[in-house]
Amino acid sequence: MSRKFYITTPIYYVNARPHIGHAYTTIACDAIARRQRMLGAETYFLTGTDEHGQKIERAAQAAGKTPQQLTDEVSAQFRALWDRMGLAYDDYIRTTSDRHKYGVQALWRRIRDNGYIYKGHYTGQYCVFDELYVDAVGPGAPCPECSRPTETVQEENYFFKLSAFEDKLLRLYSEQPDFIRPETRRNEVTSFVRSGLRDLSVSRSTFSWGIPVPDDPKHVIYVWLDALSNYITALGYGSSDTKLYDKFWPADVQMIGKEIVRFHCVYWPAFLMAAGVPLPKGIMAHGWLLFEENKMSKSRGNIVRAETILDVLGADALRYFLLREIVFGQDGSFSFDALVQRYNADLANGLGNLASRTLAMITRYFHGEVPYPSHTAAHTPADDAIAETARRAIAEYNALFDQYQFSRALELAWGLVAAVDKYIVENEPWSLGDKQDEESRARLATVLYTSAEALRIVTALAHPVIPEATAKIWAQMGLGDIKKFSLSDLKWGQLHLGTKLGTVEAVFPRADKSTIERMQKMEEQQRSAPATAEAKPVAPTPVASVPPPTSAASLPDGKISIEDFAKVELRVGQVKVAEKVKGADKLLRLEVDLGTEVRQVVAGIAEAYAPETLIGRKVVIVVNLAPRKLRGLESNGMIVAASAEGGKPVLCGFLEDVPVGTRLK
Ligand code: ME8
Ligand code: MG
Repeated sequence: MSRKFYITTPIYYVNARPHIGHAYTTIACDAIARRQRMLGAETYFLTGTDEHGQKIERAAQAAGKTPQQLTDEVSAQFRALWDRMGLAYDDYIRTTSDRHKYGVQALWRRIRDNGYIYKGHYTGQYCVFDELYVDAVGPGAPCPECSRPTETVQEENYFFKLSAFEDKLLRLYSEQPDFIRPETRRNEVTSFVRSGLRDLSVSRSTFSWGIPVPDDPKHVIYVWLDALSNYITALGYGSSDTKLYDKFWPADVQMIGKEIVRFHCVYWPAFLMAAGVPLPKGIMAHGWLLFEENKMSKSRGNIVRAETILDVLGADALRYFLLREIVFGQDGSFSFDALVQRYNADLANGLGNLASRTLAMITRYFHGEVPYPSHTAAHTPADDAIAETARRAIAEYNALFDQYQFSRALELAWGLVAAVDKYIVENEPWSLGDKQDEESRARLATVLYTSAEALRIVTALAHPVIPEATAKIWAQMGLGDIKKFSLSDLKWGQLHLGTKLGTVEAVFPRADKSTIERMQKMEEQQRSAPATAEAKPVAPTPVASVPPPTSAASLPDGKISIEDFAKVELRVGQVKVAEKVKGADKLLRLEVDLGTEVRQVVAGIAEAYAPETLIGRKVVIVVNLAPRKLRGLESNGMIVAASAEGGKPVLCGFLEDVPVGTRLK
C-alpha cells in the first residue's frame, strides 16, 4: 500500500473577497501537496469556505443580500481564484452543503452521547469578528484578541465540557511536541491551557444562520465547532460512505495562520477527543503577511489581490515570492518592489536565464541533443564541484521542505543556479563553440551536459513551488511530463545522452519599474472602486408606500428620483480610532468600522468633538463617496453631521441602537 498524505487549509470566511493572505496558506499547502504527489504519496488536499455564523449573517445584511446569496457568491469567487491560480486541491468543502451539515450533526451527537455536552446559561461577552467568547467585562468591552467592542450574550446555550480536557491536552502537547508547530505557538498554547480552561458555549439561539442542534433546532451550533468539523466531514465522516475518511484521517498536517491557533490546538483536539476521533498528526501555524506594516486583512482594507499579480507576472511569481521571501512561521512584508526584485533576480535572471542560455547552446552546438560528458581529458574539478553541489541540494532540500523551511530550501536550490551561472561564465562555452578541434568539442560537451543536468535537478526540486514554469522547462529539455517524474529517484547523472530538446522559449520575461507601477495602479483602482463585492450599493426594495420610480425627465424642478437618492450609500459605522491631525486645527482622523471593513475618514469636526469622546460612538457615513486626500491623508467616505451656519457641526446619531453596517434608505 502506498503512503497517504492528507493536508488542509483553514476554510475561509465569505464576508469578503480573497486576498494574497488567503492565497499564501493555500499556495503553501499546494506546494506541499505537489511535492508529496511527486514523492509517490497518495495525496488529498482540502480547502473550502466557512459560511455560517453571526459575522456572515451581518455581512449579508449589510450587503442587502440573503446569507445564502452572499455565501454562494463569495465562495465561488474563492474557488474561481484558486482555479485560476492552478491550485490543485482535491476537494472544496462548503459549510452550507448538506454533506457537511450531516457530518457536523453526527459529530455533535457523538460528543453529546459521550456525555460532554450539557445545557446551561451563558452570560458574557462575545466578539463577533473573531466569533469568540471572551473574558471581558461589560457591554462594549474591547475584545482581548482584536480590540473591537464585544457584545453581551445572554442566552440559554449548550456547553461543551472543555474543562475536562485540560490535562489531556497538556499531555498531548508534551508527548507529541510536533502537534503544534512552530515551537513559539506551542508554548503560547501550553500556557493558555495551563492557566485553566472553562467550559465552552457551543450553541446560539438568538440568530439562525447556522446548523441546527440535533433534537433542539431552536439552537444553532457554534460556528467554530461547525467550521472545524469540515476537516472530517469533507472525508465523509458521519455519512454512509466513509472510504475517504478511513483512508485519509488523521490529517498529516493542518495548516493555519497564527491568529486561529487556539481554535485548532485547543478546541479542535478537545472536540475530537470527546467524540473518540483520532487527532491530526500536526497543526502548523504560519505568520502574517503584512502590507504597509500591518496584517493584511479585509477589515483593515490594506489588502493586495492575487489577481493583479497573476495578470502581470503570473502565478509562479507569486508562489515563489511568498515561499522564498518570507520565513515560514514568521510574519513577513509584501511589497510590489520586493516582488519584482525577487522575480527578476531569481526567476528572470536566475532560473529562466540559466534555462534559456543552456538549452540555446545545446540547440546551437549539438543540434538540440544533450551531449555526452567526457570522462577523460576534458574533465575538470569544476565539473565535479557542480555535481557535488547538486547532490547536497537534493539531500538538504528535501529535509528543509519537510520542516516547512521553504525559504531555506529554495535558497539552497538557487545556490545551485548561481554556482552553474558562475561555472558557465568561467568555462566560456561560447568560445569553445567557435572551435572545431576535438578537445574543445569534448570540453564543450562536458560543460553543457553539466549545466543541463544541474538545470534538470533545480527544475525538479522547484516544481512544487513553481509548477507552470518548471513544467515548461522540463518539456523544453525533452523530458516529457514533469508530473510523472518520481522525485524520490532524483539523482545526479540521470540526464540521458542524446535526449532531444523541445522548442526552447523564455519562461520568465524580465520585469521593470513599469511592471511595479502597473500593479500598483491596478490595486489603487480596486481600492477606490465604490464598493467591494459584499457591499455593492443595494437597489432600493420597492415598498408599497414608495411611489413608483419616476424618470428623470419628468421630475419637477430641483427634485431627485428615488434612484438618485439610492446612489448615495449611507451606512451606520462605529468609530474605532479618533485622533487629531497634526497641523490641522479642524481635522480629526477617524477609523470607522462599517461591519465589513474599517475605513479611514478625515472629518472637519475637531473643534466640536474631543477625539476620545468619539470612540465607540455610532455615526452615519457616506460610504460610496470618491476618496480624497486631506493633509496627505486619504479620506474614504464622509461623516454625516448637521452643520448650522456659523455653528459647530453636530454628528448624526440614533436614539435606538442600530447594528454597525446597517444601510440608511
Ligand atoms: O479565520 N497573512 O477565516 P479567515 C497570512 N473561517 N495568512 C492570512 C492572512 C495574512 N494577512 N490573512 C488571511 C477564518 N490569512 C476561519 C477559519 S478554519 C476551521 C476556520 C489566511 O477568512 C490564514 O491562513 O479569517 C488565516 O488563518 C486564514 O487565512 C484566515 O481566514
Ligand atoms: Mg481572519
